[in-house]
Amino acid sequence: MAQENETVLRVRNLRLYFQTRGGPVQAVDGVDFDLRKNEATVIIGESGCGKSSLAKAILRLLPRNAGRYDGEIWLHDQNIMALNDESFRKEIRWRRISMVPQAAMNALNPVMKIGDQVAEPAMVHLNMDEEDAMKSAVRMLEHVGVPIDFLHRYAFELSGGMRQRSALAMALVTLPDVVILDEPTSALDVLTQASIMNLMKRMKHELETSFILITHDIATSSELADNVAVMYAGQIVEVGDARRFFPKPLHPYSHALMASVPRLRETIEPEFITGQPPSLLNPPTGCRFKDRCPRRFEKCDQEPPMYTREGDRLVKCWLYEQPSA
Ligand SMILES: Nc1ncnc2c1ncn2[C@@H]1O[C@H](COP(=O)(O)OP(=O)(O)OP(=O)(O)O)[C@@H](O)[C@H]1O
Ligand code: SF4
Ligand SMILES: [Mg+2]
Repeated sequence: MAQENETVLRVRNLRLYFQTRGGPVQAVDGVDFDLRKNEATVIIGESGCGKSSLAKAILRLLPRNAGRYDGEIWLHDQNIMALNDESFRKEIRWRRISMVPQAAMNALNPVMKIGDQVAEPAMVHLNMDEEDAMKSAVRMLEHVGVPIDFLHRYAFELSGGMRQRSALAMALVTLPDVVILDEPTSALDVLTQASIMNLMKRMKHELETSFILITHDIATSSELADNVAVMYAGQIVEVGDARRFFPKPLHPYSHALMASVPRLRETIEPEFITGQPPSLLNPPTGCRFKDRCPRRFEKCDQEPPMYTREGDRLVKCWLYEQPSA
């Protein structure tokens, strides 16, 4: 049996709510998942299900209206939720866990040269002097396929793909244990998307980094994914090995998501998921997917627990109550 890679990140019962006039928005509501060394966990789910909020919760990038925020985040054997804000900022954010935020390629500093932007995290978070930080930036830009003469260019002089590679270099320059990528390819054309996915696949092994990839693009991400976590209405409803998930998703919502992916080689039409995800201000009691689920039955008015299936797959659905299901 192949040996399992060590666990780098263990997220347990993580919650992040936002205070609003209408009450708390339960954007991340009791999330559990693991990330192993040199692996990528892909998080998929419809718009508004809490993917970016989960990324922010892991990196403690909380907006001013953040409300309830608790749970455990273990980075190797350290519960980083127990750190105070200053220690978290100094020891964890960017140094150990970094992020390419949603729409990062449009958020590069327009008045700073690419080389200086990539060197900056090394100076700020690893206390490198300017010369060493620039050497690290050059190495990382080469790694991600940005030509050396782009060092002195500004973001507006780069194509979308090159900007995204530069944003990735910024996140990787400190050689963190974990990089979170929030929709890294959504604004790119199909060929550039594929080349960025290939690049991340290479980085995972060459730099011994683990990735959390948040995406709508299930088809492109399947190349990179070692594990898949499906998020629905602030919760993870299925998580497990990608090689088992893609051919046979278990949760009815995962089924529906997979059926909505257009397939080039098949004549099957994609099916759209009927209805809307529930409001996170007042999510339904019981299973949160019940109003859209074609397999709903009486028991679904109670909240299902996570059931374990073969190969440590977890699925939050009453259909799996019986071990033989
Ligand atoms: N600061 C905030 N205050 C109040 N509600 C918020 C705040 N930030 C996000 N939300 C809400 O939390 C929910 C989850 O948002 P989030 O951005 O995490 O979703 P997402 O899955 O990343 O969506 P997308 O795929 O569109 O990026 C949404 O209902 C959103 O409107
Ligand atoms: S618990 Fe019930 S409503 Fe929810 S996904 Fe399973 S079958 Fe559907
Ligand atoms: Mg988002």
